[in-house]
Amino acid sequence: MGYLLDYSDLFIKGTKVTILLSIVALCFGFVLGLIACIAKISNFKIFKVISNIYIEVIRDTPLMVQLSIIYFGLPTLLDIKYPDFLGLGPEFTAGAIALTLNSGAYIAEILRSGIESVNKGQMEASRSLGMNYWQSMRYVIVPQAIKNILPALANEFVSLVKETAIVSTVGIMDIMFVAGAVKNTTFKSFGPYLLAALIYFVLTFVLSRLVALLEKKMAAK
Ligand code: ARG
Repeated sequence: MGYLLDYSDLFIKGTKVTILLSIVALCFGFVLGLIACIAKISNFKIFKVISNIYIEVIRDTPLMVQLSIIYFGLPTLLDIKYPDFLGLGPEFTAGAIALTLNSGAYIAEILRSGIESVNKGQMEASRSLGMNYWQSMRYVIVPQAIKNILPALANEFVSLVKETAIVSTVGIMDIMFVAGAVKNTTFKSFGPYLLAALIYFVLTFVLSRLVALLEKKMAAK
């Protein structure tokens, strides 16, 4: 499998794209998830409904379909073109949007369940001490919820890294795309895909070890 060495630059580039895409989607997904979570636990019916629809639609349809709608469907329907951020092509932007929207829904649920895991009595107690809703959230609920949220959020990051492989279908040059391209030029398919698996494995293994460490640290408190 020595021929793979000739393509090491490509694989390194692909790995960078995969990592970048995961980070972008997680950061923006977190902001989106936070907004959706706040909307869902708020008392405003309309926000609640919108947030529920968003979360359900995203979680009940395949990422592959969402990506296809965003990359192929929307530009023809709305006559738009995705801007080319970071010089990685408009497909990178579309992929980042799809992954952000996807991850945002999962993160919203992670945040909500983390907050709801804190005993209701805690809110009642802090309210009875004279704190308002947001003060209770800030000083009582969220510090306790973080214990459940952080490990789940880290797990989401691990899934996200693997889910990014789907974007290769729209031409984003990530690890999976590079493996396919090398297969097409060398007519050898085992090596490239094995190397792709190895890279994903290393990425997610390192990440999940970090998650485990984090969980241990949080549990000790
Ligand atoms: N592969 C599944 C799908 O196609 C799950 C996506 C999970 N996404 C996530 N951000 N955890 O919908």
